Amino acid sequence: MSNSSQIKSRKEEHVNIALNENVRVKGVTNGFEDFEIVPTSVPDLDFNEISLRTEFLGKTFDAPVLIAGMTGGYPRAEKINKSLARVCAKLGIPMGVGSQRAMITNKDTLATFNVKEEVPDVYLIGNLGLVQFSLDFGLSQFDEAVEGVNADAMAIHVNPFQELCQPEGDLDWRGAWSNFKKITKHSKVPVIAKEVGNGIAWEEAVKFQELGASAIDVGGAGGTSWPKIELLRNEKEDALSLDDPVLSWGINTALATYEATSKVDIPVISTGGMYSGLAAGKALVMGSSLVGIARPVLQALIDGGEERAEKYLHRYILDIKRVMFLMGAETLQSLRAKRDRLVIMGRSREWLLGRKIIS
Ligand SMILES: Cc1cc2nc3c(=O)[nH]c(=O)nc-3n(C[C@H](O)[C@H](O)[C@H](O)COP(=O)(O)O)c2cc1C
Repeated sequence: MSNSSQIKSRKEEHVNIALNENVRVKGVTNGFEDFEIVPTSVPDLDFNEISLRTEFLGKTFDAPVLIAGMTGGYPRAEKINKSLARVCAKLGIPMGVGSQRAMITNKDTLATFNVKEEVPDVYLIGNLGLVQFSLDFGLSQFDEAVEGVNADAMAIHVNPFQELCQPEGDLDWRGAWSNFKKITKHSKVPVIAKEVGNGIAWEEAVKFQELGASAIDVGGAGGTSWPKIELLRNEKEDALSLDDPVLSWGINTALATYEATSKVDIPVISTGGMYSGLAAGKALVMGSSLVGIARPVLQALIDGGEERAEKYLHRYILDIKRVMFLMGAETLQSLRAKRDRLVIMGRSREWLLGRKIIS
């Protein structure tokens, strides 16, 4: 099989596994259960006046929710991405596409990523993997990815654990930091540093900021596990075992969000197992700008089309609004101002004390 057809079939396999297998790791949660918000017993506001409008990288969105990048590069992906784009444009929220590596290696796949062709108004976040720039990509491929889809921003994903579990994974990461700097220096659109489900610690979040990132998507553990997806399709004899304890590796989304929002000034996105309005509300109280959601939206779309995906997101956004009501917050700004009403318990408290983020 050629390199480009390999990528194409891998991407399709990823989606099929994500939809048909249990792709979460047993015992790994998003961590928000350790964070309680002290309720406000007198919300001095009208529920119907609550606004979820949010600013992100100079744009205003109707809700602080993002469909995180998932797919592209094979025929079925065109329908998926264009459907997601229509839903996002309708709801006034941004979306990402999956890694555009396939688009660079096989120009015929452009249409599967190029959602603006049909939905010009959607705010679109392109996607490439940082390790690719240690291998065979340079700034011209970066430009190709941005220009090919007319991206409003570009996510550069980091996924060392996924690569480690992938049968054909890329393990030579030399030059990754300097490549990231080259990208941000060159890019005309904001660059978002993004993990895919094992979390970014504050040390790396700060470094990404110093090297020119415009935002951090912490991509924490607790939701879709990429190491698990890769191992489900890895037939190598010496591959990691699916019940190896290292599968729980990573920083959960709650801790990664708390760390990043404590240490960086650029916007933070919380993605990874953010499957309830309550978890989303807590991430926003911590100071996140957006909450990202991937697999459940794809599942809704495949099960019931655009209507079901839209309904799912509509409900999710309404659930965030309900938390805002219970917190007496009429705007996201006033919700974020309530960070001192977060109570941190158990393992998360020990973690944050040990990391000297709280005292
Ligand atoms: C089918 C599928 C494909 C994905 N492909 C990519 C990708 O190409 N690039 C990327 O940065 N993240 C990718 N992701 C990761 C998501 O953006 C997200 O970080 C992760 O799935 C955690 O969110 P969730 O728990 O809501 O699924 C993919 C996720 C899914 C479900």
